[in-house]
Amino acid sequence: MQKYVFPEGFLWGAAASATQTEGAANEGGKGKNIWDHWYEIEPDRFYQDVGPSETSDFYHHYKEDIKRMKDINMNSFRTSISWSRLLPDGVNINQEAVDFYNQVIDELLKNDVTPIINLYHFDMPFHLQEIEGWENREVVESFAYYAKTAFHLFGDRVKRWTTFNEPIVPVEMGYLNDFHYPCVVDMKRAVTVAYHTMLASAMAIGEYRNMNQDGEIGIILNLTPSYPRSQDEADLKAAEIADLFFNRSFLDPSVLGEYPVELIQLLKEHDLLPQTFDGDHALIKENIVDFLGVNYYQPRRVKKKETPVDDSHGILPTHFFDSYIWPERRMNPHRGWEIYEKGVYDIAINIRDNYNNIPWYVAENGMGVSDEERFMDDSNMIQDDYRIEFYQEHLKWLHKGIEEGSNCFGYHVWTFMDNWSWLNAYKNRYGFYRVDINNQKRYLKKSGYWFKEVVERNGL
Ligand code: BG6
Repeated sequence: MQKYVFPEGFLWGAAASATQTEGAANEGGKGKNIWDHWYEIEPDRFYQDVGPSETSDFYHHYKEDIKRMKDINMNSFRTSISWSRLLPDGVNINQEAVDFYNQVIDELLKNDVTPIINLYHFDMPFHLQEIEGWENREVVESFAYYAKTAFHLFGDRVKRWTTFNEPIVPVEMGYLNDFHYPCVVDMKRAVTVAYHTMLASAMAIGEYRNMNQDGEIGIILNLTPSYPRSQDEADLKAAEIADLFFNRSFLDPSVLGEYPVELIQLLKEHDLLPQTFDGDHALIKENIVDFLGVNYYQPRRVKKKETPVDDSHGILPTHFFDSYIWPERRMNPHRGWEIYEKGVYDIAINIRDNYNNIPWYVAENGMGVSDEERFMDDSNMIQDDYRIEFYQEHLKWLHKGIEEGSNCFGYHVWTFMDNWSWLNAYKNRYGFYRVDINNQKRYLKKSGYWFKEVVERNGL
């Protein structure tokens, strides 16, 4: 018996990104991005030394892959354009890239799979990183030019765009921790990077609106609800600060057109405010998003600062709170992330109540698992019941949020087929399809088959 029916026209699909799937990193006239460069100079930073050059080779397999999307009833797919493929020198258009993206978009539409196209997924062109990437305000203008070029080339068919995927991640991983290139640990620089990214998003939205293309534009944020250890004032304050830094720093300006005053105050107190210019405020105010994509994997649990402060890199967000291990937590041990399905409901209600009930969709949700071959049956199908359960439980909570009035229009998983991950390469697999990276063969997993039926019934 069907218990959880989703709204008519609900988007069911999966997300991916250019660098993680296309491969062909040195083909088709593509310029280098920071991942290509970092792999060249420090291959040992990547799991088993596997870099971004091949990945799952969507560049050569897109036709059959899109057919596979259709086979499991996906009605939508989100991926990104590679900036360094489209504009290898930042200015001149690479016709081979245009041909490739045109073919992908046309093939998706031919198969009734609505494309959602994202412009930036962690992949700064290397020549722009050489002039300091997002720390340099000129790069904001370069991004606006890239965005305009993409709208002009593909906007006749792509009707849903997003400017950034998880813009806080390059800040957190590349400027507050040394996990992503350029491996800087400096909060003042991190704040500038975040601010310029936000300006770039607003400017791209402005370009889109000027072109009157009759579509919608949004941003994809990884919202990690911040749960305090207790209701004590100091724990609540710690959770509020974590929320300001990691959620509201992009959520508020993107949806409400303004930064939270508490965030500005906090940054000011610690001399961390970025340089601003006349017109910035209006740019952000006037260019809010039409819709929001939300990536949800795990919550953030915090308590007041109890451990000694490490000052070796000056002030950092971790000076304001400590992570808290909830005794009842359940973990995905492969990825080291807590599984907390109710988080998606809390997000739905937060958007309903505090963000004008803006239309939004789950843009990523998924479970990365290592050595999945362990669960392969005689027909080569991975019996990933754990993943089905993961999706089911999140969908139930999402359904409750929708029933209670949250304006959610879709659910995308991460991801369609196993793909390359930023540092973990092919360690943890997320796909509906298993990819054998030795021969690029794809095999449907049980979860893919399950998804097909969910879409058919528009629910569980
Ligand atoms: C999201 C990103 O944060 O999580 C994806 O948008 C990423 O690019 C996904 O691959 C899963 O994380 P990971 O690190 O396990 O690949």
